[in-house]
Amino acid sequence: MNATLDTGSPVAPLLEPVTVAGLPLPSRFVMAPMTRNRAPGGVPTPEMAGYYRRRAAAGIGLIVTEGVLVDHPSAGHEDTVPRMTAGAAEAGWREVVEAVHAAGGRIAAQLWHLGSLREPVDGAAAWTPSGVREPGRPAPRAMTADDADVLLAAYADAAAVAVRAGFDAIEIHAAHGYLLDEFLWPYTNRRTDAFGGSPARRAAFPAAVVRAVRGQVPAPRPVIVRFSQFKERAFDARIAETPTELAQILTAFAEAGADVLHASQRRFWQPAFPGSALNLAGWAKRLTGLPSITVGSVGLRRDFLRPDGPESVAGLAARLADGEFDLVALGRALLGNPAWVRHAAAGRLDEIVDYRKAHEDVYP
Ligand SMILES: Cc1cc2nc3c(=O)[nH]c(=O)nc-3n(C[C@H](O)[C@H](O)[C@H](O)COP(=O)(O)O)c2cc1C
Repeated sequence: MNATLDTGSPVAPLLEPVTVAGLPLPSRFVMAPMTRNRAPGGVPTPEMAGYYRRRAAAGIGLIVTEGVLVDHPSAGHEDTVPRMTAGAAEAGWREVVEAVHAAGGRIAAQLWHLGSLREPVDGAAAWTPSGVREPGRPAPRAMTADDADVLLAAYADAAAVAVRAGFDAIEIHAAHGYLLDEFLWPYTNRRTDAFGGSPARRAAFPAAVVRAVRGQVPAPRPVIVRFSQFKERAFDARIAETPTELAQILTAFAEAGADVLHASQRRFWQPAFPGSALNLAGWAKRLTGLPSITVGSVGLRRDFLRPDGPESVAGLAARLADGEFDLVALGRALLGNPAWVRHAAAGRLDEIVDYRKAHEDVYP
């Protein structure tokens, strides 16, 4: 990284290189996946390559791309969300990957299917586990066993394209209430076949996706699974009421070939279950032994770099030092601050701007 490191900086431990699941990373900072709607026709652009390159050059060890649609009409509805398909999209991704590599970074592709949150722009029904209707939307389709096979093939194809394009890792989006999370969540999964019931059975289809992807992704490229308790439309929702239930789900992912767990929560300092201070990434690591990524309100305001306390960089670094998790993802802080890591490392708070919603509209 092109930065002056203030070695007394509490950010310093996060700048240590680390090898995770066989993949060497130049720092412990991850760029969280963020949909930006900047890929006309689903094709990544040179502007996108520059956007990711700048974050890698400024010290992000692993970029996770915005959600990338697998190649099936049910996966998504927006023309500006990138796709993982052979041809122009694959060529565009190769340029993105090469730009990040040239800056010394690593990059994972996040594979995405929106499930019931796909809008019926063309009148086609959304694909969901059990046909549970989203308010204000037409009735969705409850997936058949044949539908499941179709989507497994779509995920496998997307993974193969990503490997050809040079990606270092694949992240499977199984969080936030989209298709794979709808299998994990009892409210949206009411199936009575092998894909429904206990937490382990609800995890069976997402785990089959992990297995299908793993089959296309040769080591040492990690397969990362992103999961969450909350849904974008239900912040209090839960896929697991207890650590025992969570263990059933995450063990299914591990047995299917997941190497890293990306535990999405809204605030990294919040405990995942009563009776322990461990956050969701902490539990993921404890229950499976796999390395984990934490995320949630890191660096949103410059104050994060100043005071001590559980919500500050000092609290984050202490948890990392305890081995609670291995990597730390930044999302919104990076929207308006491409060089957040470099400036934080150098103690240049004057160079950092606090997150504002308007940053979602710009693309520096
Ligand atoms: C504009 C925007 C787009 C996002 N898109 C995605 C996405 O495509 N996939 C995903 O898993 N999470 C997505 N997220 C969630 C982020 O990855 C991250 O978990 C969240 O912003 C919390 O981290 P932060 O507090 O550091 O921003 C998005 C968040 C934002 C703000």
